[in-house]
Amino acid sequence: MQAHAPLTREDAAAAFLPFDGTLYLDCAARAPRLRSVHAAGLAALEADAAPWMQSFDALDEQAGAVRALAARLFDGDTDAVALVPSAAFALSTAARNLPLAAGEAVLLLDGQFPSNLLPWQQRCLETGARITPVRRASGQSWTDAVLAMLDAESRVRVVALPQVRWDDGALLDLDRIAPRVHAAGAALVLDLSQSLGALPADIARWRPDFVASVGYKWLLGPRGLAWLWAAPRWRAEGVAIEQHWSTRDAGDGWRFAVDAMPPSRRGARRFDAGGLDEPLPLAMAGAGLEQVLAWGVPRIAATLGACTRALDAALDANGLSAWKTPGHAPHLTALRPPAERLDAVFDALRRERIACTRRHGLLRIAPHLHVAPDDMVRVAAVAAAAA
Ligand SMILES: Cc1ncc(COP(=O)(O)O)c(C=O)c1O
Repeated sequence: MQAHAPLTREDAAAAFLPFDGTLYLDCAARAPRLRSVHAAGLAALEADAAPWMQSFDALDEQAGAVRALAARLFDGDTDAVALVPSAAFALSTAARNLPLAAGEAVLLLDGQFPSNLLPWQQRCLETGARITPVRRASGQSWTDAVLAMLDAESRVRVVALPQVRWDDGALLDLDRIAPRVHAAGAALVLDLSQSLGALPADIARWRPDFVASVGYKWLLGPRGLAWLWAAPRWRAEGVAIEQHWSTRDAGDGWRFAVDAMPPSRRGARRFDAGGLDEPLPLAMAGAGLEQVLAWGVPRIAATLGACTRALDAALDANGLSAWKTPGHAPHLTALRPPAERLDAVFDALRRERIACTRRHGLLRIAPHLHVAPDDMVRVAAVAAAAA
């Protein structure tokens, strides 16, 4: 068997709740529901009806166990990971902490997801720094465009990027970008919401300052629980954007003196948001992470890569090569029909109960392991019939 042989559809598809005849291609919006996640949620809801049976220590232990699972998708260090409600919360924490002064620049992609834009715009308003947007020349990759901007702009202090674009799945080569960011003396902030769980994250190699990811897409968990990874320096020195009691070690008596704040809890727990010590989302998130880890991220990537390759090949076979997205990630791509055919193609897919997102002139295609290469051949055939 090769190192990361694709999973068979039978192995994986049975893990999801039935799709009721819909071909769901929108994992980039929201994960399809795993049976195990659903069952964990139902059991937690039942248990929640008896609050007198719950203990603070048990909840803390549950949060610790889920934190440890999430850490395995970053670099394995549980102390590096904080529980937050959204990617924007995580990225606002990064923006609050990283040094930035008037005249300095934050480099990001034009059109990247607003949760990795608005915190930087706000910080720039406060400091007099500026946003430097990366735009691509025709035929240029996003990676080359980022590297060219790093060469051209000497005052970049923060580089805030995704690994995969949310709108069309275009892949950035962080192995090439990260060393150049460090050579420029800038901080690296990553929003891996569209890749963590579907592509390996090489934290040790990229050496980012902060990393964010939602939990409800490729981590197959619920909404409302996202992840923040922080580099050692920020775990020691960082300041949270919210001061919640759960981030502080108030000792055995749990007393908060008016004249001194208790020390922060260990590691990135200082960045934990309040209100997330909730058994239901924790149980669902834990079940999703366990499944992702059991399948293994490289195998998920290999299997989904076979699907999107089948789509590209079927587009070629139907004379629709121009509709492909060059350089897309294995798990995420987009159809690029001519503007005047976009709605007709989207409607035809909908009639065939093929669910994807239409935005900004693109039809985003984001399968998970319930989808087989043959399904993609059908997508291309439906698209071609409406072309
Ligand atoms: C790249 C990316 N980041 C973040 C998010 C969601 O961010 P938040 O948790 O702040 O709503 C999305 C959702 O589509 C996304 O695609």
